[in-house]
Amino acid sequence: MEEKIVKFPAAGGGLTDRFRRPLRDLRISVMDRCNFRCPYCMPEDKYHKDFQFLTTTERLSFTEIVKLARIFAGFGVHKLRITGGEPLLRASLQDLIGDLSRIDGIDDIALTTNGILLAQHAAALKAAGLNRVTVSLDSLDDKVFDVMSGGRGSKDKVLDGIREVEQSGLLPIKINVVVKKGLNDETVFDLVEHFRGTGIIVRFIEYMDVGTINHWRLSETVPARELVELINARWPISPAEQNYHGEVASRYMFEDGQGEIGFIASVTEPFCGSCTRARLSSDGKLFTCLFASEGTDLRGLLRAGASDQELAETIGKAWNGREDRYSELRALQSEPGNKVEMYYIGG
Ligand code: GTP
Ligand code: 5AD
Ligand code: SF4
Ligand code: SF4
Repeated sequence: MEEKIVKFPAAGGGLTDRFRRPLRDLRISVMDRCNFRCPYCMPEDKYHKDFQFLTTTERLSFTEIVKLARIFAGFGVHKLRITGGEPLLRASLQDLIGDLSRIDGIDDIALTTNGILLAQHAAALKAAGLNRVTVSLDSLDDKVFDVMSGGRGSKDKVLDGIREVEQSGLLPIKINVVVKKGLNDETVFDLVEHFRGTGIIVRFIEYMDVGTINHWRLSETVPARELVELINARWPISPAEQNYHGEVASRYMFEDGQGEIGFIASVTEPFCGSCTRARLSSDGKLFTCLFASEGTDLRGLLRAGASDQELAETIGKAWNGREDRYSELRALQSEPGNKVEMYYIGG
């Protein structure tokens, strides 16, 4: 028997934060480990073989994740994104997807993955109820790919995974490309060329100061505006309407009808004003911003036997009190602060 969720604080999922932003998306990190060592996220020298990742019992179980997701859905969350680390390292992920897809009100479940294990899992994920997949792929140049995945990846395997996803019908497929100046900015054109006309949507992400481990400098971020101009000079593109309020990518269409391309300008054109995303870490902390330093511990409550109503009150309070808008205030930060890392919070 499923427990009925009492909506908090008002019926109709009318939960908003201090800036009247509703809660619509939940990004769930199911695994803090990753099989890549992208230097901008999990540099090998810090995340070496003796690094202490969470233990199995420290991570939320599928039952706990589903219980929380149901409460979030009661608040108006309709979209779930499964992230990591690398989410496909979590055993039997398709079982979780199946349970999440049966929650009332959830109409979109997407997965963000580095793609290396995708070929073997795509069909089962689709069968379980997954709707979409986004694959991180920073370059098609073998040497650059190697550097950006920390020498752990295989571009060909990622491309195999993408093909398998296509065949499974998990569409549209998106490719996330983090662009870091001096590292892969010269190779973005290959990606455009390769995926143009395939129905696969490439999105270039401005390299961000998530966490502290990457020692980010603004000079390493390539402004999306510059990329738009460079790409437009070679393949003319025109801006397209947002798919939905709060979409992080600015969409463009190739004028010759060869599909869509996107730019995520989180540094130079922040989108905090329409940010409706909450994040759940694999150990059950609720974060209301990608750049947060503290989260609300939901696992402790769950394991102390809190009722759905009590959990809902805690989540409601956290969202009601939310005033995060880090990217809009970035320029005012004098030092990096104590932000959580991307592999832990799930990007
Ligand atoms: P769809 O539009 O539903 O396909 O998903 P999405 O673009 O929201 O999800 P995705 O995980 O592909 O997001 C792409 C990237 O945008 C993330 O990996 C982050 O780098 C960045 N991003 C997503 N959400 C936020 C956010 O709330 N704040 C910031 N600063 N960056 C974000
Ligand atoms: N800046 C921008 N994007 C990042 N990602 C990881 N770290 C950063 C960063 N510092 C991307 C990953 C993946 C998504 C989850 O976030 O490459 O595509
Ligand atoms: Fe893994 Fe993604 Fe981080 Fe790369 S960016 S180390 S693939 S979690
Ligand atoms: Fe949302 Fe924080 Fe990103 Fe702004 S910086 S868009 S508030 S997650």
